[in-house]
Amino acid sequence: MSGRTPSSPAPPPDVPAPPAAGRARPTVALAVSGSIAAYKASEVARLLIQGGARVLPIMTRAAQQFLGPMTLSGLCGEPVRDTMWDPGFAGELHVALAAEADLVLLVPATADVLARLAAGRADDLVTALALCAKGPVLAAPAMHPRMWAHPATARNVAALETDGRVQLIGPVFGEVASGERGLGRMAEPAAIAAAALSRLAPRDLAGLRLVVTAGPTLEDLDPVRFLGNRSTGKMGFAVAERAAARGAEVTLIAGPVALSTPPGVRRVDVRGALAMRAALWQALGDDLRGADALVMTAAVSDYRPAEQHPTKLKRTPDLTTLPLVPNPDLLAEVGAARAGLAGAAGGGRSRPPALVGFAVETDTDEGVIAHARRKLAGKRVDLIVANHAADSFGRDDNRATLVTHDAADALGVLPKAALADRILDRVSRLCAR
Ligand code: CTP
Repeated sequence: MSGRTPSSPAPPPDVPAPPAAGRARPTVALAVSGSIAAYKASEVARLLIQGGARVLPIMTRAAQQFLGPMTLSGLCGEPVRDTMWDPGFAGELHVALAAEADLVLLVPATADVLARLAAGRADDLVTALALCAKGPVLAAPAMHPRMWAHPATARNVAALETDGRVQLIGPVFGEVASGERGLGRMAEPAAIAAAALSRLAPRDLAGLRLVVTAGPTLEDLDPVRFLGNRSTGKMGFAVAERAAARGAEVTLIAGPVALSTPPGVRRVDVRGALAMRAALWQALGDDLRGADALVMTAAVSDYRPAEQHPTKLKRTPDLTTLPLVPNPDLLAEVGAARAGLAGAAGGGRSRPPALVGFAVETDTDEGVIAHARRKLAGKRVDLIVANHAADSFGRDDNRATLVTHDAADALGVLPKAALADRILDRVSRLCAR
């Protein structure tokens, strides 16, 4: 079972970044069972490999009716194993695979596989491996909605939940092979790969308390109108998701966005800059001891209407300008408070938080870096993630430069999850100082 260096096209947006150089590649045993959804296992294998994993493919005989073993062995660079009785293998194959696999992933998991897992059966290589696994076992069920809804399946799923040894990814609501719609469709390959890779991520941020702000702030003019910006929150949610996956305790303060809360993250929803400011200080505490780091990805509106009208403003010929008042600069306020603490810190045990800001500009690359340096000094922070509006807003990837007082590290185009990991690597170093 020899490894293979993955080829390097950019990973898709919602798949975590490959492990940094020097980190060992985690090994996933990918067990494929007989369902039409088996064809999607090849995409899961590809995404896992792009995400930095080594993949050991296992297929039941039934799975091979739906997906050719050559496809998986070619993608994974590993032989497909399909039986416990392999005369070419000296030893117990399920035990050897279990020893190598950091995670066992069953894609798809049929109703029959769930039943055999729930009963603790070990009558083929897939179930014997799942029973013998030393790490997490994840399963992505796929079946007709009536099979998923059947009391026998529900009983098996409940038993697996009680035992806590197999975690399910999905199923989801959608179209199934018969063309009908319902709950039973297998989760999308990207979601399955992301779930597996995040279980394998090193927990190198365990013990770190991180506050992340994300999305726009919307500044109300009246009950139907507001001042806003194009931020979608994707970058901040990626930072929160990756930080939690790496073991950090994360508070995510989110402006109005259409994104679901990443697993394990505490979310506080706000609307305007003043509400974000209140939530931020609530999380940090007046003495800034509530967090080890703050990552301000939010596009905080610089201004708000001078007056918030309780009823809808009517169109009148003389209403042609909108009086605005400046919002406080939230990051600069925290930067100033930290600078104030520096002198007074004395022998206190906790150090003030590391501060990371973002700068979105519409300038040349040199201009973007110059603006970032000014913001770094003006807001008194440790790092500014500088980027162009056209490269970032609403996109799943971003082209950013990490700007500090003495360096500007241009990262090139990265999926936001991968950029989040690079930012978090820096946060981790700043907190260790
Ligand atoms: N920021 C903040 N409070 C504000 C404005 C910005 O905390 N009222 C934070 C953002 O979260 C981000 C960084 O500061 O981390 C962005 O700073 P800046 O570029 O000054 O915001 P812009 O309003 O885009 O700045 P400018 O108009 O000067 O380019």
